[in-house]
Amino acid sequence: MAVTGLPELAFNLSFRYDLWAERRMELEINVVRGDPVTSRVDAVIISIFEDMQRTESLMRVDSALGGAISILINDGEIKGKMKDITLVHTMGKIEPKKVVIAGLGKRDQLNVDKLREVIAEACRMLRKTGCTKIAIVAHDTDILDPEQEAQAIAEGCILGLYQFRRHITKDPEYGEVQELLIIEHDGSNVASLERGCRRGKIIAEAANMARDMANEPANKMTPSDMARIAKDIADNNGLEITILDRDRMRELGMGGLLGVSQGSAEPPKFIVLNYKGDGNKNIGLIGKGLTFDSGGISIKPSENMGEMKGDMSGGAAVIAAMDAIAKLKPAINVTAIIPATENLPSGTALKPGDVIKAMNGKTIEVVNTDAEGRLILADALSYANTLGISRVIDVATLTGACMVALGTICTGVFGNNQDFIDTVLKASAESGEKFWQMPMFEEYKEQNKSDVADIKNSGGRYGGAITAAQFLAEFVGDTPWVHLDIAGTMRIDKDQGYYVKGATGVPVRTLVELVCAIAQ
Ligand code: BES
Ligand code: MN
Ligand code: ZN
Repeated sequence: MAVTGLPELAFNLSFRYDLWAERRMELEINVVRGDPVTSRVDAVIISIFEDMQRTESLMRVDSALGGAISILINDGEIKGKMKDITLVHTMGKIEPKKVVIAGLGKRDQLNVDKLREVIAEACRMLRKTGCTKIAIVAHDTDILDPEQEAQAIAEGCILGLYQFRRHITKDPEYGEVQELLIIEHDGSNVASLERGCRRGKIIAEAANMARDMANEPANKMTPSDMARIAKDIADNNGLEITILDRDRMRELGMGGLLGVSQGSAEPPKFIVLNYKGDGNKNIGLIGKGLTFDSGGISIKPSENMGEMKGDMSGGAAVIAAMDAIAKLKPAINVTAIIPATENLPSGTALKPGDVIKAMNGKTIEVVNTDAEGRLILADALSYANTLGISRVIDVATLTGACMVALGTICTGVFGNNQDFIDTVLKASAESGEKFWQMPMFEEYKEQNKSDVADIKNSGGRYGGAITAAQFLAEFVGDTPWVHLDIAGTMRIDKDQGYYVKGATGVPVRTLVELVCAIAQ
């Protein structure tokens, strides 16, 4: 295991509290053959479609409750509409104190992503009413494959119940949900349900890990902290890790990362994680790790500047995805590369007009110090190129322009190889994380031309997300490459479905899906 830059890490460990030791308790999920009437839980969730077809479990609960659910159906209070949630108190007639009838909408329109959303919202609602043990009746939908269904239930539950309370000292109003039971009445699918459940748990916990990192304020999530977390993940999963420090960056000629970091007192880190699953296939995952982006000398307005603590969301997603990949063990080699730094103004900071040289030898005129993400990615992409990786995907909170173009609903997808782009889009359809492909017409390249260097780091306002992608393309060589701009999707400002206000963890689930799909 090659670890460079270790003295700095060890120093940090000695005085910083350990973020991961403080991580909240993981939700326990079990699959059992059983009956909602006798399950020892606080609440049971049973789903129903608009067609009102009663499943076996629903009928058993209904008759034990003296037909209470049928009455609600006949009165029109339960309609089965998508995400309609009806809470029924059981008054001691069955073991669970509460039954939740969750609407799944039209039978032929159900998909795993809708199921994730419904489960997430039902679980959040039950937590507020003090439930700590929840059961969900599985395979009541009969249109989803049981493995996929259990994965969606586990993901919906773990993602939906996520909270970031690490810096709140006051006790919460209600307790955490501690256990989730997935119950199946005849037990015929327990093995597949368990497989899906395990997969869902690993993937959703990874997404929550990325959320934790991105929600953490910048004073608690420095480049050194990111490196330490990556090392924890590597040590826990037997991954190789290399952390390059400033001296090594100088030797390699990483003028982009060195340039962006030169205004900050926090040392930059270039983090490389390696998972070995198979010698025949490989992929590189690159994540922008800007632990705070003030804009530098081209400083941002102070309003909402705090949100730029999340400018390392791409790096966090890549690090967290490696944790899930290491646990799921797909047959493919995966290299994760995370250039991490702060972007701050100071007497030593980069200045507009400065010219720097990236690792691949190209010179860059820095016309705007706030277009820093592409500078550090230039080095990361060049580095990946020297490793001879056969396909590379980068994830970055790169441009406000992408957020203007696509809003906060979907991630922008760019690339130089339509087959690879299609594979990525397919993975996103599986995960439910919304992606949308953007054009890469040659004409846009014109805007990146510099009078004094090979290229400049901003192509102006128009088509800003595309010119940023065209800039990155200059550093990927001929390697099939996809770029994901998550500026709009890295955070959400209200609870919605399985997203919780704050960092979203996008695109951890798609990255894991993609790597597993290519391995297949
Ligand atoms: N990190 C920002 C992009 C961003 C904006 C992410 C909003 C999330 C939410 C990036 O470094 C940046 O500042 N980009 C500039 C580029 C411009 C100067 C060419 C931008 O989008 O304004
Ligand atoms: Mn910026
Ligand atoms: Zn940035």
